[in-house]
Amino acid sequence: MSTYLITGVAGFIGYHTAKTLLLAGHNVIGIDAMVPYYDLSLKKARLSDIQHACFEYHEFDVGNFDKLKDLLGNVSIDYIIHLAAQPGVRYSIDHPFEYGKHNLSAMLSIMEFARLRQAEIKQFVFASSSSVYGLENTVPFSVDSKILSPMSLYAATKIADEAMAYSYAHLYKIPTVGLRFFTVYGPFGRPDMAVFSFTQNIDHEKEITLFEKGQLKRDFTYVDDIVAGIIASCKVNHNASDPYKIYNLGNNNPEKVTDLVSYIEKFLGKKAIIKDLPMSKGDMRETYADISLSQKELGFQPTVALEKGTELFVEWYKKYYYT
Ligand SMILES: NC(=O)c1ccc[n+]([C@@H]2O[C@H](COP(=O)([O-])OP(=O)(O)OC[C@H]3O[C@@H](n4cnc5c(N)ncnc54)[C@H](O)[C@@H]3O)[C@@H](O)[C@H]2O)c1
Repeated sequence: MSTYLITGVAGFIGYHTAKTLLLAGHNVIGIDAMVPYYDLSLKKARLSDIQHACFEYHEFDVGNFDKLKDLLGNVSIDYIIHLAAQPGVRYSIDHPFEYGKHNLSAMLSIMEFARLRQAEIKQFVFASSSSVYGLENTVPFSVDSKILSPMSLYAATKIADEAMAYSYAHLYKIPTVGLRFFTVYGPFGRPDMAVFSFTQNIDHEKEITLFEKGQLKRDFTYVDDIVAGIIASCKVNHNASDPYKIYNLGNNNPEKVTDLVSYIEKFLGKKAIIKDLPMSKGDMRETYADISLSQKELGFQPTVALEKGTELFVEWYKKYYYT
């Protein structure tokens, strides 16, 4: 049995990761600032779903280093999984300071905490994003490619997180793994993301907006596959001289947004009302993960296709909102 510290535990991926670890018999200490970026009742529902004797929850901003240090003063921690962040490409256009606070300051604070505890921490895992692959990258996106052209402030903060983590890994020999997630979806997902917001709007017979007539492609990745990758990454071995690794966690099978819409229509039994718009600022035409390194070193293998995952999501959605 190990002790995992998960930041952003009331968030979509944090909740699923905590749940899986608790079911496997581990201790989980979770932190979340309950940032009101989307419906807080969803975050509260996630937390109540993971109440457990081995789960300890603290509500505060990870950027508050003194609190982090004091609160966890006597607790021994094996793994840190840092998922707290301000997500969203489009939101970063109008809310830049949220990204400085939650993606940069909070990252520095948790890295300082890892430095303080470097003797006991077996792995520091943090969330990066497929958004780091900017303009000049061709698909499938490989972790070997250069990431020098972020197309949004969100992407820029994730590139900065990777650079910061790299420096701490090398300076202080903290075993570190960065994970670039690709469009994660599933039960208890994020209401700002397409799978959730389209389902909600189609269900309520409201318009959905498709950019570029829905021809943009996303490597939609089911949350259980992401969680398997996160947990596997905790066990990665490093060279003593280079204790830093980056992996893509994506489905390796991009699908058009119009395909997603047709799956939602099928499982909801309702037709979408579509409004077309040109591509929005900062958006990418296609995301597609090259997962060869993750397959080789993490044993990562996506198991849920978009159609099946959408069915599971819609099933959850109906149960959550209608029963
Ligand atoms: N969901 C995706 O498709 C996706 C894709 C790429 C990367 N990511 C990254 O994965 C991580 C988790 O994303 P998610 O989809 O679960 O998002 P989420 O918004 O559901 O979860 C993030 C949680 O972190 C909390 N938080 C934010 N700033 C905090 C702070 N300073 N201190 C404490 N808590 C704070 C929020 O309240 C929220 O509950 C993020 O780092 C995100 O950037 C997600």
